[in-house]
Amino acid sequence: MITNQVPNSELEKLIEAARQEPGRALEQEFYSAREFHTADMRSVFRKQWLLAGHVSSIPERGQYFLFDIDKESIIIVRENEDCVNAFYNVCRHRGSRVCLEKEGRRKLLTCPYHAWTYGLDGMLKAARLMPEGFKKEEYGLHACHIRLFEGLIFINLSNGTLPDFDEAYRSMLPLARQQGLATAKIAFKQSYPTKANWKLVAENFMECYHCQPAHPEYCVVHPQDQVLAFGAGPGSGSDEAAAAYQPTLDLWEAESSTMGYLNDTIDAGVFSLGMQQAVRYPINPQKGFLSETIDGSPACKKLMGDFRQADGGETALAFNPFSYVLASNDFAVMFRWTPRDEMNTDVEVTWLVHEDAEENVDYDPRNVVHVWDTTLKQDKKITEDNQSGVCSESYQPGPYSTQEARNVVFKQWYLDQLELLL
Ligand code: FES
Ligand SMILES: [Fe+2]
Repeated sequence: MITNQVPNSELEKLIEAARQEPGRALEQEFYSAREFHTADMRSVFRKQWLLAGHVSSIPERGQYFLFDIDKESIIIVRENEDCVNAFYNVCRHRGSRVCLEKEGRRKLLTCPYHAWTYGLDGMLKAARLMPEGFKKEEYGLHACHIRLFEGLIFINLSNGTLPDFDEAYRSMLPLARQQGLATAKIAFKQSYPTKANWKLVAENFMECYHCQPAHPEYCVVHPQDQVLAFGAGPGSGSDEAAAAYQPTLDLWEAESSTMGYLNDTIDAGVFSLGMQQAVRYPINPQKGFLSETIDGSPACKKLMGDFRQADGGETALAFNPFSYVLASNDFAVMFRWTPRDEMNTDVEVTWLVHEDAEENVDYDPRNVVHVWDTTLKQDKKITEDNQSGVCSESYQPGPYSTQEARNVVFKQWYLDQLELLL
């Protein structure tokens, strides 16, 4: 049961009312009330596998980074060549944070408060002046669930039933492998902290209705017919727009297949763990774009993974509404949204290239990041403006357009998650 100040019956009423209007946005409370934030953390973020980062950020023993979400902080640390661990950043003595810097390298994890010291395996190694009978082996750091998926690090904050990672994401492996994510390296990282509820960030990424008014650069790269068909992934546009785009897609797929590339389409649907999707589609075949760059020319000379010759495709992997990878033949972009509170969301983005690609020799990081950095800055602005308006007393949820079909699916999925908790 949800424990908070608003009685469950109130939440239930709001959820039930939202169900009655599947074609409209959510009511204000969902985007601003503490109670819904608490419910979201428990029903969504403590259940899902969350994309935390990439293994190439911690190649050496003892290297770590922190994954912060809501009130939690998770230490993700490399124990050895084969093992990356995740621990709650909470000292087992009196609860201090153990690691304070966002990233670093440590031989041991020593709490700054009274110097309890943990190994990279989380076991307590030293605790000064403890009374007789104190058993160090009972005070290791609490472990957090962790899985690696082709170099991507996922964590799960569940303290109950753990959703099956392999079952949810097995079918996405071939596309991830083809892209060479496991052996990629980080070219650039950027944060776009956004003053908005995570659902506004997520919903914005699920529709490309806003692309024409808000993203002029993105619309230079991606042609209008594709933006309308599935600018934000399969099922984001209308059936008519998808049908109109199909011949272009078929033509490109045939060409890509002759190069030996895999072009799966996976759409696990609204009843799946994270409404996961995986797909490949051409960036801009009409203009012969080879990469998601402003002029379509590759941003990195070394192509990723199995690509020997650019087919101008984009691989899109959506693990859940807050964990994505979008990749051209030559670079990949990892996106993650993590709520800090009801009206603040961390938007963390990482660009990956081939592990052997040399900065300023094979790639200019400015070219690699340009399109998405520009687009994400615009997204931050429009999403924050959206939150401001949603907080007005005059706000009423308006109807979705035919370009926001994926938002309708998300709304149902989200309400289903909440209801499971009630
Ligand atoms: S709280 Fe960590 S050593 Fe005391
Ligand atoms: Fe956008």
